[in-house]
Amino acid sequence: MSENEKLMERAVEAREYSYSPYSGFRVGAALLCEDGLVYTGCNIENSAYGPTNCAERTAFFKAISEGKRKFKKIAIAGGKEELISCYPCGVCRQVMAEFCDLNEFEIICGTFRSGLEIYKLKELLPKAFANENE
Ligand code: THU
Repeated sequence: MSENEKLMERAVEAREYSYSPYSGFRVGAALLCEDGLVYTGCNIENSAYGPTNCAERTAFFKAISEGKRKFKKIAIAGGKEELISCYPCGVCRQVMAEFCDLNEFEIICGTFRSGLEIYKLKELLPKAFANENE
């Protein structure tokens, strides 16, 4: 199994923990750090809707809160019952841009059934905001 397939398998497993009683859309993510460790996450919804956290940000915030700062790639698995190709939302793309090189960081979408799709963050977030004063 390739590195991307293994990471997608971890995302599919993480999806089992999805807390999504409002949308029924279950998402899992697996984030590979540069040191080889993998942090997983799931979406966590809220009755007030706004506080909902996506699977990708759950994985990022877990890793960042444990001192990780360098990331290689993230796999995302989502869907109601059947898995469908699930792409990261705009907010998650912006969080990725805060910590990842746009030209290097990879986002693995798709499904085992339809085939995995690999994108560079730059493709999914062209013309990203950058604070010139930093
Ligand atoms: N969601 C994610 O967790 N990741 C995505 O990439 C897209 C959307 C979640 C948020 C919400 O809990 C549910 O999917 C439906 O939007």
